[in-house]
Amino acid sequence: MVEDIKKRIERLRNEIRRHDYLYYVLNQPEISDRQYDKLFAELKALEQAEPHLLTGDSPTQRVSGRPLEAFASIRHAVAMLSMDNALTGDELRAFDERVAKGLAGGDYDYVVELKIDGLAISLRYEDGLLVTAATRGDGEAGDDVTANVRTIKAIPLVLLSNGKIPGVLEVRGEVYMPEKSFLELNGLREEAGEPVFANPRNAAAGSLKLLDARITAARNLAFFAYATGEVSVPLAQNHWQSLAQFRKLGLPVNPNTKKADNIDQVIDFCLGWAEKKEKLDYQIDGMVVKVNRFDQQDSLGATGRAPRWCIAYKFPAEQAETIVGTIDVQVGKSGILTPVANLAPVQLAGTTVKRASLHNFDELNRLDVREGDTVIIEKAGEIIPQVVQVKPELRPADAKPFEIPKKCPDCRAEVARDEAGVYIRCMNPNCPGRLKERLKYFAGRGQMDIENLGSALIEQLVETGLVKNFADLYKLTSDKLVGLERMAEKSAANVIKAIADSKTQPLWRLIAALGIRHIGGQSAQILAGHFASLDALMDADEEALSQIDQVGPIMAKSVYEYFRNPENRGVINALTAAGVKPRRSENRRSDKLAGKTVVVTGTLENFTRQQAEYAVTQAGGKAASSVSKKTDFVLAGANPGSKLDKALSLGIKVLNEKEFLRLIGRE
Ligand code: IVH
Repeated sequence: MVEDIKKRIERLRNEIRRHDYLYYVLNQPEISDRQYDKLFAELKALEQAEPHLLTGDSPTQRVSGRPLEAFASIRHAVAMLSMDNALTGDELRAFDERVAKGLAGGDYDYVVELKIDGLAISLRYEDGLLVTAATRGDGEAGDDVTANVRTIKAIPLVLLSNGKIPGVLEVRGEVYMPEKSFLELNGLREEAGEPVFANPRNAAAGSLKLLDARITAARNLAFFAYATGEVSVPLAQNHWQSLAQFRKLGLPVNPNTKKADNIDQVIDFCLGWAEKKEKLDYQIDGMVVKVNRFDQQDSLGATGRAPRWCIAYKFPAEQAETIVGTIDVQVGKSGILTPVANLAPVQLAGTTVKRASLHNFDELNRLDVREGDTVIIEKAGEIIPQVVQVKPELRPADAKPFEIPKKCPDCRAEVARDEAGVYIRCMNPNCPGRLKERLKYFAGRGQMDIENLGSALIEQLVETGLVKNFADLYKLTSDKLVGLERMAEKSAANVIKAIADSKTQPLWRLIAALGIRHIGGQSAQILAGHFASLDALMDADEEALSQIDQVGPIMAKSVYEYFRNPENRGVINALTAAGVKPRRSENRRSDKLAGKTVVVTGTLENFTRQQAEYAVTQAGGKAASSVSKKTDFVLAGANPGSKLDKALSLGIKVLNEKEFLRLIGRE
């Protein structure tokens, strides 16, 4: 009996590994996510019933339970060198001439790859099992990030035996964050009042260097293999063949790789990708050109820091030069101070840029940006404009280093560095600057959704002292508003009505609107689904909160602590007293969309995209990111873009928001 179970467990593990391979390496899944989940659930159940049969290489064992205290260091068996750069076609030709000379007239060819903008990692497999994973570090030794790397589903815990597996095989490659995951992550962080990542590379690096692998597991990192370190038996005689071997072993290799016979082909391919790179769903910052044959690589050797057989062709970044007028310090809703540069307006990659976040004061110091400076700005990964360089030679003589504020620019209260030492926070819970941001968030579309209560009005309400907390909003009257700037009787009445209407918003919106750290719209929906009322949520202890599926220990602690604060309780009592009476949660689970795949696109009125996707899953459906023949519905809001075109061309049913609400029974 146990013998049978053992066999079944082994079979399931191999099945799951094979499907991982089909999905991540070949990009040709054979089964649906649902079928995959079923295999996975069966394996998990069997392993739970027979815990002695559990092994570390099981696909169920990617995420370890306990956070690390610190990272250990791992010495690389073979150093991880860096690469020389070429910035132009001519520099690539110069590289080719050096190669030709170094190989003294012998024939050679190249392999050209995308230069993935993530972070380099070295995976060590012994007898086919992943034993360690380390960051590049200083090239000689890096951090042991094995626990985190194990959570990346594209990285096999066990190599497939389609090919010969060397006793020791070190695989090097790039861990990266797909653009979609990056945008989602930042969206969630913004909702939860946490600082956003400047670009996908930082997000990938930040996610890999977390001490708690459970958080890394939720970050959706991906991987491409592109080199070997120590190997006990060579995989192949040249790089091209070794990439093919990687694939056979179950390691993902980037499909956009080319074998080139000469430097002209190399240059063509590189320039071609400079044009096409935006089409990828991850970021690349250039191309990598490698001499193909290993014996030729060896004979070319390396200079101190970089091999002579490869070179990185870096794409020219879209940059612009402009002048920093002033540097403002903004207070966010969680009290974090962010320096922002006001710029002389300049065109960059299709938009006019007037401001650029300097992210935090460490970054500002590193760049040494001063008011009056001439700076180079760049779109970080084509997304957010940022200052990358200061031109000190153009600095006005009287420009002084920017001083890190010792007091909040808004309320003059003390500031303090947070635990990680990067962010500075205003410590005054009643800071008006912070209050403005909290109110804007409270009234925002993803929260209480109070129409007509915009930023300019909120600022006036705080400055005139009419509003000191959330509850004060509900005590406003038309009389009090009339007299504020641009407030005629009619518009005042509209504002008051919109505020009154929000009193019966669903419970999750109120929970989200409070701005509890780590609790954005999606987590608020989960909480609202579990508690019948705000009172019940307020009384829940940390233990009960962390038992809830999808509520981690960090969220549980944050919610618990928020409601233990007498001031927060006071505001909630005042909200209740002012007549705020949230509707009982409407998002009980249903199966109205069972078996249906829905793609959400465009700007919706009642939901952010994440909330709509959550509503889809709550109704038993699956939310997908791209439209294909398998899509059942596309939910389209304003400015839907290419997904709508694709849906129409495939004849897929397109729903507007009203139809969607009706379909899931919320209308
Ligand atoms: S090969 C001797 N191939 O670029 C260097 N590197 O600037 C071996 N990178 O640290 C690296 N894509 O993080 C190689 N296809 C690719 C790459 C790649 C990205 C990164 C890698 C490396 C950095 C050097």
